[in-house]
Amino acid sequence: MSQQRKKDHLSLIGKSIIKACQQDKRFHYEPLFSSPGEVQDCDLSLNFLGKHFAAPLWISSITGGYQEGEKLNQIFALLCREFELGMSTGSIRPLLNDSKRKKSFDLRPLLGKERPFYLNIGIAQIEELLASKELARLTDIISDLDADGLVIHINPLQELMQEEGDCYKRAPLSLLEEFLVEVPSVKTIVKEVGQGFGPRSLEALLHLPLVAIEFAALGGSNFAKLEMQRRESSAFLDWQNLSYLGATNEQMLNCFKRLRNSSENMTRCENIIISGGINSFLDGFFWLERVSCPALYGMAQQILQWSLEGEKFALERMKNHIWGLKIAKSFLSLNEDELG
Ligand SMILES: Cc1cc2nc3c(=O)[nH]c(=O)nc-3n(C[C@H](O)[C@H](O)[C@H](O)COP(=O)(O)O)c2cc1C
Repeated sequence: MSQQRKKDHLSLIGKSIIKACQQDKRFHYEPLFSSPGEVQDCDLSLNFLGKHFAAPLWISSITGGYQEGEKLNQIFALLCREFELGMSTGSIRPLLNDSKRKKSFDLRPLLGKERPFYLNIGIAQIEELLASKELARLTDIISDLDADGLVIHINPLQELMQEEGDCYKRAPLSLLEEFLVEVPSVKTIVKEVGQGFGPRSLEALLHLPLVAIEFAALGGSNFAKLEMQRRESSAFLDWQNLSYLGATNEQMLNCFKRLRNSSENMTRCENIIISGGINSFLDGFFWLERVSCPALYGMAQQILQWSLEGEKFALERMKNHIWGLKIAKSFLSLNEDELG
């Protein structure tokens, strides 16, 4: 075995060069303070939203309400159960309109009681339900599915770029304020869908009684861009530029810290889920090392790609992702010089 390894080394070393310019400058590598044998026992656990997580990872809102979505949601739920994570579903709008769509969102039996499980809905549907005084339809679904709470997505650019988009009439902030007064017992998270929130919006969110804010920042999957590709007419081509607008995780995190530290600001929401373009455990580790409040990182696109390959593959990828996170925690520290 060892002879074979030596042979492999000789034949592979020529293809195993890393140039100094390829260094991941975000981190210092510190090999002296942990051993490979200790990595498995590295503790990543935390409490968030009143529940235990074995690792600081959130499966962001993706899908539900149709057949393929059902299988995918089951895989996401399985990942959550196996690795003790939390998740939110994709928008339950189809279920609001048709109770027969329940199956793909009915994940509590798979998840088990302990896993954090949130349903997702758009601000446009909140406007409709407030106007028709039918919020009970939503709260009934939350209790029927035994969900812990609700994630509300705010996505004006996506709606505007979508030919059939929902052009809600009222500003989201006033809708959220009314919603939170009407149903104060619903644990509510607010997110974007890939453009993030600018400073004024983030400040306003921090003053609301939300259980968390999910950044869904610019830098990853982008639904404004996606909707532009669905447009058949080229008359809207200029609008593509709108998809490059938004706030990145870097900007949002800096702003969040500034607002939290400023003495005039009595912020109410303390928990964040950093998301948008987080594709690896190193990305996730990087962001979480930079916060001092309760926080997770959220992933959508990447976990979707794993899950499209099937349950076995997704489980394997998640196992290695978490293992990688433990390696990162054991041997890396932030390279503050590179943070700017
Ligand atoms: C296929 C797909 C479907 C999505 N559906 C929803 C949704 O129903 N509601 C929502 O709030 N966000 C939705 N998102 C947005 C994600 O929750 C996330 O905010 C965004 O994709 C950025 O994360 P990422 O870069 O890790 O993909 C969806 C994302 C993907 C990839």
